[in-house]
Amino acid sequence: MSGRPDGERLVPVLAAAPAADGEFVEITDADVEQVVELWKTCELTRPWNDPYVDIADARAGDGSTILVARADGRVVATAMAGHDGHRGWLYYVAVAPELQSTGVGRAAVVAAEAWLVARGARKVQLMVRTANTDVLGFYGRLGYADQECTVLGRWIESDRGRVGLE
Ligand SMILES: CC(C)(COP(=O)(O)OP(=O)(O)OC[C@H]1O[C@@H](n2cnc3c(N)ncnc32)[C@H](O)[C@@H]1OP(=O)(O)O)[C@@H](O)C(=O)NCCC(=O)NCCS
Repeated sequence: MSGRPDGERLVPVLAAAPAADGEFVEITDADVEQVVELWKTCELTRPWNDPYVDIADARAGDGSTILVARADGRVVATAMAGHDGHRGWLYYVAVAPELQSTGVGRAAVVAAEAWLVARGARKVQLMVRTANTDVLGFYGRLGYADQECTVLGRWIESDRGRVGLE
């Protein structure tokens, strides 16, 4: 046998290699606390949405994920993406305040869109809270426009507690 490692042996090495700074990759267990911290800093959490449950739910199936980017080993940006079988959806687009306005938010959306397109999405949508209209300019720059729809929702009681919309 030559000393050259085969592909199979390389797999664990590659899997353990950290993503390059700024590269969007799927969230790992080690990222969870930092992701929740970032969402709180960005004021995206709400009392009725447990962020840990949201993260676990997004990681539970093949149709959704949370992408994260790191800088100096810390999570600095996220985007949650999910394909519901009809549309792709974005949630929790967040950039650490010190890195905002440097193109990272655009990169987060582009990465999440690519993830959704790879799963068959032909249209990507998102909801903006009525109290967060400042962010409309950001999405406008990325080509997102008002779809002239009103979003309706209701809480469903289940054995997991209330399950509802972001
Ligand atoms: C919204 C957010 C993700 C934007 O990220 P960002 O890294 O600052 O945005 P970028 O630097 O990638 O900006 C991309 C483009 O949008 C523009 N832009 C960014 N924020 C904007 C705003 N509030 N209004 C108008 N334009 C904006 C930028 O100027 C840039 O334009 P360009 O392509 O012509 O250069 C970030 O501000 C954030 O995390 N906010 C708090 C969390 C939040 O509200 N998330 C959205 C939930 S719906």
